[in-house]
Amino acid sequence: MGTYLKHIHVLESCWKIVKDNITFVRIHGSTVQEIAHDVDLTNKTCLITGANSGIGLEMTKCLNCNGCNVLMACRNSYAASSVMKYLVEKNGLLRFYEINLASLKSVKNCSVEILENEKKIDIVLLNAGVFGLPWTLTEDGLETTFQVNYLSQIYLLMNIEKLLTSDARVVFVTSESHRNVNWTVHNSLAPTEDLISLPKNQYTSVKAYNISKLCGILAMHYLGYRWLNTGKAVFCAHPGSFVRTRLCRNWWTYEALYMLMKPFSKSVSQAASTPIYCATSPELKGLSALYYKDCERCEESDLAKDLHLSFRMHDLTQDMLRERVKSIDDSFNMQRKSANFARELKEVDNNVISNYTG
Ligand SMILES: NC(=O)c1ccc[n+]([C@@H]2O[C@H](COP(=O)([O-])OP(=O)(O)OC[C@H]3O[C@@H](n4cnc5c(N)ncnc54)[C@H](OP(=O)(O)O)[C@@H]3O)[C@@H](O)[C@H]2O)c1
Repeated sequence: MGTYLKHIHVLESCWKIVKDNITFVRIHGSTVQEIAHDVDLTNKTCLITGANSGIGLEMTKCLNCNGCNVLMACRNSYAASSVMKYLVEKNGLLRFYEINLASLKSVKNCSVEILENEKKIDIVLLNAGVFGLPWTLTEDGLETTFQVNYLSQIYLLMNIEKLLTSDARVVFVTSESHRNVNWTVHNSLAPTEDLISLPKNQYTSVKAYNISKLCGILAMHYLGYRWLNTGKAVFCAHPGSFVRTRLCRNWWTYEALYMLMKPFSKSVSQAASTPIYCATSPELKGLSALYYKDCERCEESDLAKDLHLSFRMHDLTQDMLRERVKSIDDSFNMQRKSANFARELKEVDNNVISNYTG
């Protein structure tokens, strides 16, 4: 009996230590509800990619509760409509746009739908992402993680830029893992397609993910420069590490790792707080091109801060899109069979690319 009680006591002590630590980690981050509780988003419109799952879903719920119109850009119409059914019953401010970020053609179709149906966009949350994929090429001939996490979302932003209000905010949901990219000086002086859209023999899923997140931060710096003195702002937000969402679904080892880390990582609601803080907080008025973590300003890696690299990366992004977008538009125009529509589309593309080049 004595030994039994001793064991119980030891177990109780262990549980207390674990509990205290969990409490410590949990109080380390505010939840999205705490961050946004007094933010009024009535008459605001937010476009969010990957709105049907994980951190994106949590942000969608929060925006919806705060009176924001949410444009849910998702590839999974079933999942998106389930979310909408649940939330619309409460509020009725959600609209779904179908997008597959692994296809530039789908991004273009989605952009055109948005341009046709929406009058303005106040907030853009570039949130969708993949991690842990085996090496695959998209229909555009690019490594999938790179295209989904970066290129397609930049292309989407370029296409809908004219809907952005004068004080719009764009937030890239990025990751601390961008710090693990180690490019040589030669690489960063002359980045090439192979450096960011990895060929099979250089591919690891972690490397591809880190690069895609670095590209997002570099794009933030380019846009920050481009939108200087315009009132538009752009931020990057790290939501937290090992947040248990469906991000790790592609490999059981990651699933296991994320499960193990669960007691020490943020909840999904805590993870959504930093991007929502960047998108809505009045404290950030007048600021732009900054990286945030735990709802606080944080220095990104030296590589990510390199403004010259951000310009070079922008040029490379334009080249990669230019090479692919033209043929995509041809097939898209044929589907629509409308001369006017074709002209409009061409104009959108020319404006978009020349604006960004200018
Ligand atoms: N979880 C973490 O620990 C963590 C840490 C740092 C950064 N992040 C970043 O946080 C963001 C959200 O991730 P999460 O953790 O919430 O993961 P998640 O639950 O897997 O959500 C990812 C979202 O992206 C969408 N998506 C994936 N591929 C797509 C495609 N080809 N076209 C359109 N949408 C696509 C998914 O749609 P489907 O449902 O159709 O697949 C889903 O809605 C990502 O950018 C991620 O890199 C997460």
